[in-house]
Amino acid sequence: MPYVTDSILVLDFGSQYTQLIARRIREEKVYSEIQPFDYPIESIESLKPKGIVLSGGPSSVYEEGAPLPSEGLFELGIPVLGICYGLQAIAWQWGGEVAHSNRREYGPAIIEVLKKDALFEGFEAIPENERKVWMSHGDRIENLPDTFEILAKTENSPVCAIRHVDRPIWGLQFHPEVHHTVHGKRILKNFIFSICGCQPSWTMQSFVEESAEKIRESVGKEKVIGAVSGGVDSTVMAALVGKAVGKRFFPIFVNNGMLRKNEAEEVIHLYRDVLHLNLIYHDATERFLGALKGVIDPEEKRKVIGKTFIDVFVQEAGKIQDVAFLAQGTLYPDVIESVSFKGPSVTIKSHHNVGGLPDKMPLKLIEPLRELFKDEVREVGKVLGLTDDIVGRHPFPGPGLGIRMLDDVTPEKLEILRDADAIVMEEVRRSGLYRKVWQVFPVLLPVRTVGVMGDERTYEQVIVIRAVHSVDGMTADWVRFPYDVLARLSNRIINEVRGVNRVVYDISSKPPSTIEWE
Ligand code: XMP
Repeated sequence: MPYVTDSILVLDFGSQYTQLIARRIREEKVYSEIQPFDYPIESIESLKPKGIVLSGGPSSVYEEGAPLPSEGLFELGIPVLGICYGLQAIAWQWGGEVAHSNRREYGPAIIEVLKKDALFEGFEAIPENERKVWMSHGDRIENLPDTFEILAKTENSPVCAIRHVDRPIWGLQFHPEVHHTVHGKRILKNFIFSICGCQPSWTMQSFVEESAEKIRESVGKEKVIGAVSGGVDSTVMAALVGKAVGKRFFPIFVNNGMLRKNEAEEVIHLYRDVLHLNLIYHDATERFLGALKGVIDPEEKRKVIGKTFIDVFVQEAGKIQDVAFLAQGTLYPDVIESVSFKGPSVTIKSHHNVGGLPDKMPLKLIEPLRELFKDEVREVGKVLGLTDDIVGRHPFPGPGLGIRMLDDVTPEKLEILRDADAIVMEEVRRSGLYRKVWQVFPVLLPVRTVGVMGDERTYEQVIVIRAVHSVDGMTADWVRFPYDVLARLSNRIINEVRGVNRVVYDISSKPPSTIEWE
């Protein structure tokens, strides 16, 4: 916890809501960090959190190998709040009895607070219909150790909230972090402010100042390089590293030939003229398209693009003397993926960014955004003076348009896709919908269909429009675009893009589909 004095540590027992807990705490301007459930006691001592939250999780405490808090956690004297599985783990470790319940509870329940306590401060005044809490558990506490008392119950959970009689340990059977728990935020605030005594001092402004100072200190007189794409994460990273070390930072921008129309020029302008950074630009279009010749399989395409990118980057970086650091725009969700005790999930697609670089280059890593969620990165960008247009950009995949055309990548297809993409962007921005959706883009299909234009038969390609709402790209739903917007997209694409005579709309959610087609 390098940036602030007051922070809350969240120990992850595998809950789908772990990130949400950290987010809710950060929304209160208190720094929060997630670590695995068995994070060593010595590390916790050196982090000095003001409070510890034990997340929920899918396990049962009585099962062989169930994750349990580290020995000595409760001896630290730091306030602990166990949520769902976290509560059961506390009860279990203190000698209570937890068993599978015949009355599993999923969904809303009404809680009744039985005892006045700092955790439920302000609850007296809340009417019954607003005391809704979100349950999601199959186990329940059958026997509470004598050292604990019950603070609240629901109809199905006689032990819904507990606290230790003389130590700072609390537990909740429900999830205060989800929106369905109507006053969950108040409970979390009671914990972090009244119980742990945190000050709300963690802001993006303070983050920028402190992290720039930290980068300056660790870099000293040496040089830093970093791969940039013009996307939100790498641009914010670059603006921050640039603020810290100025001209000793060399952002490297590789044009892989699969960028959007005018994108290379815009990115160069942004880095050189707006951010005043020492941009190194290399156009490797021919190399990428050469390597991709005849490659059809989507995974193979991604691998070829990823490998070529690393080769080109290493070659460009080699031209700068005495580099000691590699800066990356890694975000918190990427870090947590590798922290979670369940381990990373299966690879559906190999995402090509700069993941393979550190192995190839024996440089020290700087990852200034490693503690931030996407919306926090956008805030940091604004603090650094980036415009809404830049921080509000839709995500664009590393392999670019290459994974938005099926079958092989050719210059002809790239031209069709660039023209269609430019129309989609223009029309969606004009309709005021750009900011309201996660992503919108065209995909070129490798099929031709029959059409008729000016009395002539045509036999041309098909463009798909894909537009999705999403919070983090992990799940997504297709956007219900107004018909008139769809009509304009279709008209303009068919009229203006040569080689296309049909436009269709993708109405698949993720899962079971993915956002990109490849
Ligand atoms: P999928 O297609 O996996 O996409 O549902 C989820 C989100 O990730 C983006 N995406 C990528 N981003 N490098 C990236 O930086 C990649 O290789 C890559 N592939 C997919 C995609 O645009 C969507 O926002």
